[in-house]
Amino acid sequence: MQRLTDRKILLGITGGIAAYKCAELARQLRGAGAEVRVVMTPAATEFITPLTLQALSGNPVHLHMLDAEAEAGMGHIELARWADLILVAPATADFMARLTAGQADDLLSTLCLASDAPVCLAPAMNQAMWRNAATQHNAEMLQQRNITLFGPGIGEQACGDIGPGRMLEPVEIAQLTAEQFGNAVLAGKTVFITAGPTREAIDPVRYISNHSSGKMGYALAQAAVEAGATVKLISGPVNLPAPAGLERVMVSSAEQMLVASLDGIERCDIFIASAAVADFRAADIAEHKMKKGKADEMVLRLVKNPDIVATVANHPQRPFTVGFAAETRDVVAYARDKLSRKRLDLIIANDVSRSDIGFNSDQNAVTVVSADAQQVLPETPKRQLGGQLIAMIAQQYHA
Ligand code: PMT
Repeated sequence: MQRLTDRKILLGITGGIAAYKCAELARQLRGAGAEVRVVMTPAATEFITPLTLQALSGNPVHLHMLDAEAEAGMGHIELARWADLILVAPATADFMARLTAGQADDLLSTLCLASDAPVCLAPAMNQAMWRNAATQHNAEMLQQRNITLFGPGIGEQACGDIGPGRMLEPVEIAQLTAEQFGNAVLAGKTVFITAGPTREAIDPVRYISNHSSGKMGYALAQAAVEAGATVKLISGPVNLPAPAGLERVMVSSAEQMLVASLDGIERCDIFIASAAVADFRAADIAEHKMKKGKADEMVLRLVKNPDIVATVANHPQRPFTVGFAAETRDVVAYARDKLSRKRLDLIIANDVSRSDIGFNSDQNAVTVVSADAQQVLPETPKRQLGGQLIAMIAQQYHA
């Protein structure tokens, strides 16, 4: 359960008799080190009071979508971004149906739609309702969308029926929640990750750079921490906070990124180069702001930057080395060429000609390419994709 330490769990409670067990669930989650914020549907408040959950979670309970006071505190979008995981327990048949339909007619369903965090449901309902074809269809649809179902269990129900539909016990739900945070596949391993763009100065006020936001690299770094690794994140200039639990080294130019990457490389087990490094830099950096003068043209002489990932891959104590390939056409073919030319173990190819994925978007879709195989990971929020990629990299590393 130590995987719950410092995790931010948004506990959603919907209107079923099992709602009374959420008092114990909130206690279990907090006891395991998680920070818990509770959102209740109006029906849930008929079964257990918000005051009880406020006392047990240690935070105010969120009830309404259009509550001016709550929005002035932690508004619903902020709450959606805050969560590392959304856990809905109990999840009624009605809530599952609304989630399947993509409705956003109350605070909890809106948060589920607005958040990139993984969503887990602990269904609880009468056995006939659970077995009903509509509910079964909804359960299947939700799972296809990567929503995880905890249970339900089988047994005696509040209505006297016996069958499937019982909510799992709070201790089981807390345990399954903890398991969502990876199974420490990189425990004891040191991972270096480059992220974001580099900036190559031309003069004191101008530079050459690119559109990288750092989101992909930061998502990988967060996932590597969750997988138990010791992580050094070598970051170009981005507007992202450092994820908790790692060392972040901020750099600006490719040359600085190389120095930071090689510092301690002998203790690095896995190196992941997700940064968009400028291939060239100005041959001479002007000491003062360059004046445009009367000329209509200007020639800037560029020289090649060091190739960071290739330098690491050719180091005498080389770690398992993973590169990225940002391409606008023939994505996999170019990636495969970089894989062999730079002597990489794996390369993750993404199509940066699309504006909805790749550079500076919240989503990405990639193909993971190794010497003898390739696997497509379809469009997913970068936060989730980071976890999928770390799991695949760890598997290849151990193999
Ligand atoms: O930061 P985001 O907005 O989230 O966007 C993510 C991303 C699109 C930047 C990321 O997914 C990505 O594709 N990163 C690699 C970008 C890139 O520079 O690709 P490339 O094909 O030019 O380089 C190939 C590999 O060599 C990369 O691993 C790169 O980090 C590395 N490289 C390149 C040049 C250089 N001088 N040194 C390097 O290490």
